[in-house]
Amino acid sequence: MILVISASLHPESRSRILADTAKSKLLKKNASVEVFDLSKKPLPLCDGLTAYGDSNVQELSRLVQEADAILLASPVYNYDVNAAAKNAIELTGKAWTNKLVGILLAAGGPGSYMSAMGVANSLMLDFRCLVLPRFIYALGDAFQGDELCDQQIDQRITELTDELIRLSSAIKK
Ligand SMILES: Cc1cc2nc3c(=O)[nH]c(=O)nc-3n(C[C@H](O)[C@H](O)[C@H](O)COP(=O)(O)O)c2cc1C
Repeated sequence: MILVISASLHPESRSRILADTAKSKLLKKNASVEVFDLSKKPLPLCDGLTAYGDSNVQELSRLVQEADAILLASPVYNYDVNAAAKNAIELTGKAWTNKLVGILLAAGGPGSYMSAMGVANSLMLDFRCLVLPRFIYALGDAFQGDELCDQQIDQRITELTDELIRLSSAIKK
């Protein structure tokens, strides 16, 4: 199973469109996909203690644990993923161990294109994740309403999802 986590809390989120696009491409390739949308299933802030007992946290932990690979779609906030994405990782911590991870980002400008590196480093160093070196980075002009309209970004998502499926089945073997 491939887990797609959509981290934006914005009602008209662009990174959610990236997550939906990736999900459609995975389904077309007959992958089994689960989506966890943080705007629909809010998580408490990680306090390192009681928050782990929350039912949404437990559901996300189980999904992360069961996933062969995880796609994290997030807004860029302050040259990083948003706090909701960071919080979700804090809450589910060790369940990420050894996971294959892909990252899709929606951003406001071109200058923050290396914003995936903070979370990529933490996933690699903390949990030995294998982070795919194919990041999706989309600006506002890649979208029209609730549609992705940029062919290059669409092609990059095709490559990311192909690679995710190829590597996750290689790891299973
Ligand atoms: C608090 C905040 C911080 C942001 N910081 C950045 C930033 O550092 N770099 C950037 O390119 N865009 C930044 N943006 C713009 C968002 O990345 C952009 O609006 C993006 O579409 C948000 O993703 P979403 O549509 O999935 O919510 C910021 C937006 C907000 C609200």
